[in-house]
Amino acid sequence: MNKKTVQDIEVKGKKVLVRVDFNVPLSSKDPKNKITVTDDTRIQAALPTLNYLLDHGAALILCSHLGRPSSPADTQFSMAPVATRLGELLARPVQTADDVVGAAVTAAAAKLQPGDVLLLENTRFHPGEKKNDAELSQQLAALADLYVNDAFGSAHRAHASTEGVARAIQARGGAAVAGFLMEKELSALGTAVSNRPHPYVAIMGGAKISDKIKLIENLLDTADKILIGGGMANTFIKAQGHETGTSLVEADALPEAERLLGLAGDRLVLPVDFVVSEKFEAEAAAETVAADRIPADKMALDIGPQSLAAFKQALRGAKMVVWNGPMGVFEFPRFAKATNQLAQLLADQVEEGTEVIIGGGDSAAAVTQAGLAAKMSHISTGGGASLELLEGKHLPGIAALDEK
Ligand code: 3PG
Repeated sequence: MNKKTVQDIEVKGKKVLVRVDFNVPLSSKDPKNKITVTDDTRIQAALPTLNYLLDHGAALILCSHLGRPSSPADTQFSMAPVATRLGELLARPVQTADDVVGAAVTAAAAKLQPGDVLLLENTRFHPGEKKNDAELSQQLAALADLYVNDAFGSAHRAHASTEGVARAIQARGGAAVAGFLMEKELSALGTAVSNRPHPYVAIMGGAKISDKIKLIENLLDTADKILIGGGMANTFIKAQGHETGTSLVEADALPEAERLLGLAGDRLVLPVDFVVSEKFEAEAAAETVAADRIPADKMALDIGPQSLAAFKQALRGAKMVVWNGPMGVFEFPRFAKATNQLAQLLADQVEEGTEVIIGGGDSAAAVTQAGLAAKMSHISTGGGASLELLEGKHLPGIAALDEK
């Protein structure tokens, strides 16, 4: 990575503003309930950077977004539950602020001593955050001497706390550098973009093909095989002229799917069978049918065993695999089989020396749910960010950081 990191700067006695991605799942959306963090993976992932800075004599001002609130009135998106969990993990007190910037925040930041931690309120409570507002960026920058971006999951957003603040702190003569998580993600996913060993196999899943057309097109230049599962496979099956029953199909994306099929030839591996059901329900009765035999009144909710066998064959001997998106409706155990079995298949491949990278979001959740997270070579903490990086896009949160 050609960006400076926390190891390239002196942090002793400094106030450091750290952008983290603490956009974590919560136990309830109802502010009347006691809300807790239900998955602290992203908080844990930031600890190496936070502990390094604290151990080296810095005072920390942390900021993150949480969910997609429309205003501070959406109090269910307050950072308070995150502060509680972070305090437990850091084993030290975490002060909270009622706002993102403003007089009280400035006063709290000014009082910080080395080893202190202050977590600001949800950056998206401020209307300037998503607009990458210059005023908000400057107010954030004024709180600290240095800026560290460790929020890989938000690096594709050009927001005030990810992009504008880096420029603002640089304008004040301060450094804006990457944290260890950012460095680790860029090194793992960067290999998949630039130095990938072959055979290189990409596995794409998830509901929508329209989200991933560019990615698949980019992969056609680089991957030896692209395996398609999940809801997006239906659109390809339809584009091949087959009946898809009541399955999710993106009619608007059919011409693109046809075009990709033409470009890819036999490098695109589609499911040959599906687990189908009449209803989108956890306990709905299921049967397995050939991909070109989906009954008119049924929908595909998982790929079938023959498809998985074909995927296994295509994965044989792969040196690198990138997986993005589940194979079926993995939230329902009855339709999670292919996703779980694929996770196991990939875990076995890692043991045989394949580099397996899980591209964040739902596939990361699926691998964790299958109890196989520790077996993978790398699981990204970024969903959209890892997709955009794999598409070959420049991420604004990274672009803004100091060059080495
Ligand atoms: C994510 O969960 O992918 C990141 O935190 C970004 O969240 P956003 O899609 O709401 O910007």
